[in-house]
Amino acid sequence: MGSSSQGSEIRPGPVTKRGPSARPLLWLILALPGLWIGWRWTMTPDAYGFGHAVKDSGDWAAWLLLGTLAVTPLRLAIGTNPFTRWLLLRRRDLGVASFAYAAGHTVIYLADKASLAKVVEEAGGADLLTGWLALALFVPLAVTSNDVSVRRLKRAWKRLHRLVYPAAVLVFVHWALTAFDPFVAYAHIAILAAIEGARIALQYRQRPI
Ligand code: HEM
Repeated sequence: MGSSSQGSEIRPGPVTKRGPSARPLLWLILALPGLWIGWRWTMTPDAYGFGHAVKDSGDWAAWLLLGTLAVTPLRLAIGTNPFTRWLLLRRRDLGVASFAYAAGHTVIYLADKASLAKVVEEAGGADLLTGWLALALFVPLAVTSNDVSVRRLKRAWKRLHRLVYPAAVLVFVHWALTAFDPFVAYAHIAILAAIEGARIALQYRQRPI
């Protein structure tokens, strides 16, 4: 899963080099918030219950999504260097981690409700419907975020992964509609708009004439 690439962008193709990608370390770091959520829930179940776990897992899913989307504009803004090259190679890991937190967030919600009738009833409201739709768009992106899919789908891979943009809009609308205080969600919507605005402007500036 990851945003599309254009022009002089490094292709999202298979990662063939075995260089110092530090992938296991990256995944350890990506897993830390989840372990922290699990730890707090286990150790202080009264103070930190379903509500906190749903909120924190949703926050991490959204932050990792923003991080995934920020890779392309960052690379276009500061150019190719070892850091942006590494980020481009690992962008799919950030996207998959975002999906993993979103999936965990959904599982916690389902466990809290513990009733299919209740889940179906609540899914009709715009606040949760946007969450379900975002998750539905995340699934094909996460499933195809591997080298085999990149090779098999060829150009269609890029087209498919453009679904990340409507998915991101749905995620932040979902946040604004579910949050107790929507101000934080609005701030994140502004960050999303800045990232996407920068990407579009930089891609336009660097297009071949
Ligand atoms: C891509 C999928 C999703 C992402 C990235 C996501 C992310 C988020 C975020 C960022 C919040 C706001 C947390 C806060 O207030 O700080 C949230 C809230 C919430 N989400 Fe999701 N969500 C997703 C899908 C879902 C789905 C499928 C459900 C289940 C129907 C769901 C149920 C909820 C609930 C109940 C809240 C309110 C939590 C609370 O304030 O207590 N979300 N979500």
